[in-house]
Amino acid sequence: MRITLIRPDDWHLHLRDGEALAAVLQHTAERFGRAIVMPNLKPPITTVAAAAAYRERILGARPDGSRFEPLMTLYLTDNTPAAEIAAAKKCGFVHAVKYYPAGATTNSDSGVTDWKKARAALSAMEQHDIPLLLHGEVTDADVDVFDRERVFLERNLTPLQRDFPGLRIVLEHVTTKDAVDFVKAAGPRMAATITAHHLLWNRNAIFQGGIRPHAYCLPVLKREEHRKALVAAATGGDSQFFLGTDSAPHARHTKETTCGCAGIYTSHAGIELYAEAFDNAGALDKLESFASLRGPKFYGLPVNKDRITIEKATTPVPAELPFGAHTLVPMRAGETVGWRIVG
Ligand code: DOR
Ligand code: ZN
Repeated sequence: MRITLIRPDDWHLHLRDGEALAAVLQHTAERFGRAIVMPNLKPPITTVAAAAAYRERILGARPDGSRFEPLMTLYLTDNTPAAEIAAAKKCGFVHAVKYYPAGATTNSDSGVTDWKKARAALSAMEQHDIPLLLHGEVTDADVDVFDRERVFLERNLTPLQRDFPGLRIVLEHVTTKDAVDFVKAAGPRMAATITAHHLLWNRNAIFQGGIRPHAYCLPVLKREEHRKALVAAATGGDSQFFLGTDSAPHARHTKETTCGCAGIYTSHAGIELYAEAFDNAGALDKLESFASLRGPKFYGLPVNKDRITIEKATTPVPAELPFGAHTLVPMRAGETVGWRIVG
């Protein structure tokens, strides 16, 4: 079986920098027309000038002939000035601002300690209509790791939304039924991205036959009932839910260690894994809307002009992939994916 789609985009991606960027970019560029590029580098991308320089490095790392377009983001801090938001709007290549609660995940140390401290920037974003991208988890040590998304909705997102009713928000990589319900109730100013790994795996994947560091990401995988709610949201008719891989490469040795990094690498099969999830749900006819149409609509961008064709075929995944001086272990390493790209 083959299906042809308007070329999809990835609305949440980690590309890293330097030799890591050079190692992973080809996978995204082969599949996706554009990607919203996360700013959690070391140091983070907090200014339009830094985003411009990072964008040039990404463009320079594209495979020959690639027309892949990076859509840049800024990293919100407690001190982001309103003027930086105005500059982001003016520059044309910054499409959103990312909110990491301080300490929530990889390179989030300079993130927001309390959203009330970022009022000036949030107000400017509301005024200039720049979407806020949320890593929606509380960081409090007393909150169970599996409850951190749900608690963020109550404690942080509800008052934030009340104070900035005009702000457009993407709740990134939603993992729970609670988040799906919250986004639906919030209406069209709010959207959510969903990863392929959260559609295909529940939390048992982390402990299958032993501890599996390559199935560890944040927000952490949840129970089966939540996975089912995500599949229903992705394959349903609601245009608030669209594709964002959250593909997050880490060198093998930084995950296979005493305190391993969070992140699952999926860009090597960035559309194929979603095709599998949609096929499993008997909803392949909804894949184009989720992967290629709803994201551009939310971001106010045109859909891509070209198409890709994928074929249902058992396709091996290497046990590891080159990652600069190191290697990385992709999702389904040493196993197979059910689809492949043919054109
Ligand atoms: O699993 C994750 N990895 N979650 C994040 O929020 C960050 C990401 C990364 O940058 O590695
Ligand atoms: Zn991410």
